[in-house]
Amino acid sequence: MNRRKFLNLFSISLFINLFPIFVAASYAAKPQSKKKPTKSTNWISIGTVAELDKAGQLFKAKSSLGAVLVVGTSKSKNLIAVNPTCTHLGCKVDWEAEEKIFLCPCHASEFTTTGKVQNGPATKPLPTYKTKIEGNKVMVGV
Ligand code: FES
Repeated sequence: MNRRKFLNLFSISLFINLFPIFVAASYAAKPQSKKKPTKSTNWISIGTVAELDKAGQLFKAKSSLGAVLVVGTSKSKNLIAVNPTCTHLGCKVDWEAEEKIFLCPCHASEFTTTGKVQNGPATKPLPTYKTKIEGNKVMVGV
């Protein structure tokens, strides 16, 4: 066997042996799924249903989400949850149930139930949270 023939046979044999490895490697490099990752809500408990129904609101000054004020009762369809820290200078807003607004006692900024500024001097909305009742717990999440 001359050198040229040996190199030809060696090249063919190398190709035949490595081809399956290249194919497997190209499949492994492809993304497995084109699904977008879903955002999962991070829920935390703010209090019990009994506490909410008794007071009509729950307030937690410190949580992993920040300050949380939940207003409503377990019987109301839409619980409202906001971060009650006024976006003007940081006072805690109060819930005015009759007017259905959040009112800042410091400079009278008013916010709607969705956190939007209704009257200044605040210009930025209150952050809001999702709400749900799970068993006897009132949960909020982002
Ligand atoms: S701190 Fe709320 S209006 Fe100024």
